Amino acid sequence: MNVLLIGSGGREHALAWKIAASPVLTKLFCAPGNPGISGSASCVPLNVEDHEAVLAFCRERNIDLVVIGPEAPLVAGLTDVLTDAGIGVFGPCAAAAQLEGSKGFTKDLCAKYDIPTADYQRFNNAPKARNYVREKGVPIVIKADGLAAGKGVVVATELGQALEAIDDCFEGAFGDAGAEVVVEAFLEGEEASFFCLCDGKTALPLATAQDHKRVGDGDTGPNTGGMGAYSPAPVMTPERIAQTMRQIIEPTMRGMAEMGAPFTGVLYAGLMVSDDGPKLIEYNTRFGDPECQVLMMRMKDDILLLMKGAAEGALESMSVSWHDKVALCVVMAAKGYPGTPRKGGVINIPESLDVEDELEIFHAGTAMNDGTLVADGGRVLGITAMGKTVADARQRAYAAVDAVDWPDGFCRRDIGWRAV
Ligand code: AMP
Ligand code: GLY
Repeated sequence: MNVLLIGSGGREHALAWKIAASPVLTKLFCAPGNPGISGSASCVPLNVEDHEAVLAFCRERNIDLVVIGPEAPLVAGLTDVLTDAGIGVFGPCAAAAQLEGSKGFTKDLCAKYDIPTADYQRFNNAPKARNYVREKGVPIVIKADGLAAGKGVVVATELGQALEAIDDCFEGAFGDAGAEVVVEAFLEGEEASFFCLCDGKTALPLATAQDHKRVGDGDTGPNTGGMGAYSPAPVMTPERIAQTMRQIIEPTMRGMAEMGAPFTGVLYAGLMVSDDGPKLIEYNTRFGDPECQVLMMRMKDDILLLMKGAAEGALESMSVSWHDKVALCVVMAAKGYPGTPRKGGVINIPESLDVEDELEIFHAGTAMNDGTLVADGGRVLGITAMGKTVADARQRAYAAVDAVDWPDGFCRRDIGWRAV
């Protein structure tokens, strides 16, 4: 198979690494990719927003399957354009990607199908939202409806903070994404990420993982895209997984099919787990980053065959198996992240790390500058190791982190703390 992977982050490096190991792969391209991905794929400077250019590339190179990593091209309808032209795509159509693209859409679906989630209201103007927040009190959660690169959510513990978040949204802090606001009840518990492969009819559960969203140790400081992850997440017991499938994932699949937008691709449920069972915080319609890095390390099966199965509606007869070991990923970010990251610093990765077993250094924001690897983004490397226990995997990952020479970098030192 000829495959085009779309994206340039650590998630896409992990996908490229895993796809490249598939015996059915002929040639892997990645647009735009990064220096790490270029070890597994031919990186091509396609403008992914130009759907016609992507289509022309697919025709020219006889691409059998396009794998879309990030959410923006999904919400923008890249899948629809390629599917209409007869090209296989792993990733939902725009109508199904609304599960991530509109928080209000997902909340309405939950209400209609009785899916456990926080109580909510949707608003299209500030005065009504402000009144509602005053009536409900704090803690309360304010969300921009649309895609806001993970920055559109404020968990407010003070009324002033909630009112300010509402004003920010309606005053355009998130552009069109904030033209509508969802206000929802605060949920308590432990968060977990749960992933399924979907083909429109069948949802095949993948593994569980736990992300670390705050920038600082002990879950302090501002939210980020994710500073580290591990899999499996012990909080997701077999019973809770079964409950999640029955109460959350399966009704969602049914609902999407009923509205004529059957879901294909990866459905990523962000869950809040408490004694009441798992509740849906939000859906994403792609793999998590850095959760993907730990899932790809643990997956035993051929990801490409599974993705093809998802694209072709053939998941019912497929299964996925996992290494028993734990995988843990520590994200190294550039100082300044999640604000303005310091770019251009030279990164030296010792060769001994490249050859170590069950250790992968996934690149995100890196670039080559005259043959030298430099930092070129917020999250830069995802150092991912396997071990018999969380403690083992963590010890191996941090040993590799400490061997990387990059003075501008930093990481959290406590990834996996809930499980250790
Ligand atoms: P989201 O982008 O919807 O995943 O929200 C980002 C983060 O905000 C989540 O990972 C949670 O930590 C937090 N969050 C979102 N909604 C709620 C909620 N209803 N209750 C508590 N925390 C929440
Ligand atoms: N790690 C969280 C996300 O990918 O949305």
